Amino acid sequence: MDTLAKSSNINPLIAEEDGPPAILVIDDEENVRVLLQRALEFGGYKVFAAENGQEGIDLLRKGSGIHVILTDVMMPVMDGLEVLGEAQKIDPDVEVIVLTGLGTQESAIEALKKGAYDYLQKPMNMEELFLTVQKAMERHRLTRENQAYQKNLEAIVEKRTAQLTETKTFLQSVLDSSWDYAIIAANLRGNISLFNEGAVRMLGYSQDEINGELTKTLFPPGKKNGSGPFGVDSSKLMPEQVHQCEGIFNSKSGVLIVVSMSIATLTDKSGKVIGVLCIAKDISEQKKLEREIKKHTENLEQLVEERTLELSSRNVELEKTLKHLNEAQEQLVSSEKMASIGQLAAGVAHEINNPIGFVRSNLSTMTKYTQKITGVLEAMKEKLSNDEEIEQMWKKQKISFILEDLDELLSESYDGTNRVATIVKDLKNVSNIDRSQIMDSDLEQALDSTLNIVWNEIKYKAEVEKEYAGIPSVVCNPQQVNQVFLNILVNASHAIEDPPGKIIVRTVKYSDNEVAVEIQDDGMGMDEETRSKIFDAFYTTKEIGKGTGLGLSISYRIIREHGGSIEVESELGVGTTFRIILPVGK
Ligand SMILES: Nc1ncnc2c1ncn2[C@@H]1O[C@H](COP(=O)(O)OP(=O)(O)OP(=O)(O)O)[C@@H](O)[C@H]1O
Ligand SMILES: [Mg+2]
Repeated sequence: MDTLAKSSNINPLIAEEDGPPAILVIDDEENVRVLLQRALEFGGYKVFAAENGQEGIDLLRKGSGIHVILTDVMMPVMDGLEVLGEAQKIDPDVEVIVLTGLGTQESAIEALKKGAYDYLQKPMNMEELFLTVQKAMERHRLTRENQAYQKNLEAIVEKRTAQLTETKTFLQSVLDSSWDYAIIAANLRGNISLFNEGAVRMLGYSQDEINGELTKTLFPPGKKNGSGPFGVDSSKLMPEQVHQCEGIFNSKSGVLIVVSMSIATLTDKSGKVIGVLCIAKDISEQKKLEREIKKHTENLEQLVEERTLELSSRNVELEKTLKHLNEAQEQLVSSEKMASIGQLAAGVAHEINNPIGFVRSNLSTMTKYTQKITGVLEAMKEKLSNDEEIEQMWKKQKISFILEDLDELLSESYDGTNRVATIVKDLKNVSNIDRSQIMDSDLEQALDSTLNIVWNEIKYKAEVEKEYAGIPSVVCNPQQVNQVFLNILVNASHAIEDPPGKIIVRTVKYSDNEVAVEIQDDGMGMDEETRSKIFDAFYTTKEIGKGTGLGLSISYRIIREHGGSIEVESELGVGTTFRIILPVGK
């Protein structure tokens, strides 16, 4: 039978340990009992039979896998309704089908009210019997299955609950043990839903008093905060993105705390943003340290700056001192040099001046005497023109020539002494270091004087050409300016390696209130490197003893002190021109 086969397809979840589903038949009428037992066994069921209610209940108690009870209503000892009540106590799942005879329908209805599955009327239709039994069996199976499912579900729920509790405990302990971090969650309206121990510690609120409050409670009042939770605009809150920022929390006691915040969104299963999680770390101490470090760094920088300034001003002072020292040294050397030259020259000039004075005066007297003697001799010769002896002597001694030459000799000698006198005067002019004073000076005359002094140096080397423009006189210290001319002329002469060379001394009206003196030579010239160093003190290319390397550095200083300048044009192997430009200074 199809239905029977199906009914025996027991769900393994509810399979009883004691074999196939069993039916308990309780009837005091043996023939009915045996008929039912056989029929049902034939239908594939395991069947227990009892002749009264008590016996049936005892069998049920033994737990023989009875799913369905078929019980007569009217029985001695224990009737069907009692059996139903007892059976429900022992096994609430057991399905009870009551068998009614004529006159017991009311009991059947009563049984149904009390929870019987169905009733069958005697005499029984077998098909109806099997159908009802099968349905009862099915219901029992479903009930068991349902119970098993429920039990299983409960077990799963219990397991999950345990897992969740464990996870929650774990998470709570993680959250709470994160002492250094305030972990705060809020919904999108900003109501706080999670506030860990770290947050409690940092902000002083208890979890109870802060839960449900708005996150803006945690920030200083009046501060301009964004519209969303934790002051972040909701538009900035993208799922799976962490917003990093720094902020200031206001603790319950009003202490401001600088925090670095990581703000992330909380999403539901579908990925919809439902809230915000903020993990904040107190960085007040770190900020304080940073500020202190910055202050120290600034202090240090200032200190370094001050020291640098101090050092550089010291450096400037040192440079100044060095310059002064150099100049003083130059001046010392120069003045010593000039003083010794000057003393020597002044001495020589003085010594020469006296003898030259009387030689010149004597020569002048001698010229007059000679003229007188010549006149007397001429007259005597005229008178004694017939005296052969006198005539002979006059001719033999070449008196006429002597008288003529004497005049010339005396005049030349006189010129010579004049020249010596001029040189002596020039020498005195140039070397008289004591007379270093500012005066209106004729530079062309000064050049002539200097040329006279250095003539001995120059004359074997070069011929000197003068190109004087008749420049106006210049207010200057003529001794110093002469010293410049002297050095540049001597340098020009030294530069001529292949005599005879040429030195041109030129004066130029340079501008309305400036004059220039140019000293040009066709000597060896200079390369760029030498040219760049010639004004440095002690720079010389000359052999030891010939040059100190001070001439041009002193010259440069003298002209600078006069408000003028020195220019140099030079070409190696062609020659050099020094141009001394001086303001007229009136
Ligand atoms: N007319 C020139 N032609 C070529 N070189 C020159 C000329 N004038 C100067 N110099 C170069 O410049 C150098 C410096 O000249 P400076 O007059 O300062 O010193 P010096 O002549 O060497 O020594 P000092 O003048 O002290 O006796 C010279 O040694 C020389 O090399
Ligand atoms: Mg020189």
